Amino acid sequence: MRKPLVAGNWKMNKTVTESVALIKELLDFIDGYQKTEVVICPPFTSLWVARELIQDTSIILGAQNIHYQNEGAYTGEISARMLQNIGCSYVIVGHSERRDYFKESSEVVARKAEQSLNFGIKPIICVGEKLVDRETGKTREVVKEELEAVFAILKAKEMANVVFAYEPIWAIGTGKSATPQDANEIIKYIRALIEDKYNETIAQKIRILYGGSVNQENISSLMAESDIDGALVGGVSLQAMPFSKLVKFQQL
Ligand code: PGA
Repeated sequence: MRKPLVAGNWKMNKTVTESVALIKELLDFIDGYQKTEVVICPPFTSLWVARELIQDTSIILGAQNIHYQNEGAYTGEISARMLQNIGCSYVIVGHSERRDYFKESSEVVARKAEQSLNFGIKPIICVGEKLVDRETGKTREVVKEELEAVFAILKAKEMANVVFAYEPIWAIGTGKSATPQDANEIIKYIRALIEDKYNETIAQKIRILYGGSVNQENISSLMAESDIDGALVGGVSLQAMPFSKLVKFQQL
């Protein structure tokens, strides 16, 4: 049985002051809720204060990015050791905004995933197609190419600590979610590729999230599908009440 995971990606939002307010509200609503594993990924500047507020609670800390080198002259970058030291258990890698705006290749994404695992941080590896890919029937091809870069680097024993997120780019921040059936179909395909490359036990154990305009209205139907194990949430994670409802989808 795979435990549902909901991760909030705050992106480039929230000052430290605003982060404190949001986390306090979130704790009021969801601290101690055990049916869903909840991860918040604030911006780097808020990680410390977030850690202080959520230690000894059920909310888990994640980051939005990581560098694949250990340390050194990489101005503006954050290392795995820094994230480990600040208490991050998860890190998002390969978000489409990073692939697109910051030209991160699938190989770089895979190296970031590997580096996070080296430091005991679980990567949430994002994959997904653009609208033009979907319209031209290339969804599977694109997703496969992104996954193969990861498969080329990660060993079977490392896969146990990996989370994937299928995020069709056309569904991110657009209010236009994929249908639960379409999302499930691709997530099943991802699981089949994992099984082909590794084995069935790993494929059945690994959590694969859906991301792209998830909200408190569509979460239940997404989670009712066989292979969707949770959600990577952008916009809605910036507001405590709707995010908390989404987290508690079992009660909706
Ligand atoms: P959204 O973002 O929920 O605002 O669509 C999802 C994401 O970028 O992970």
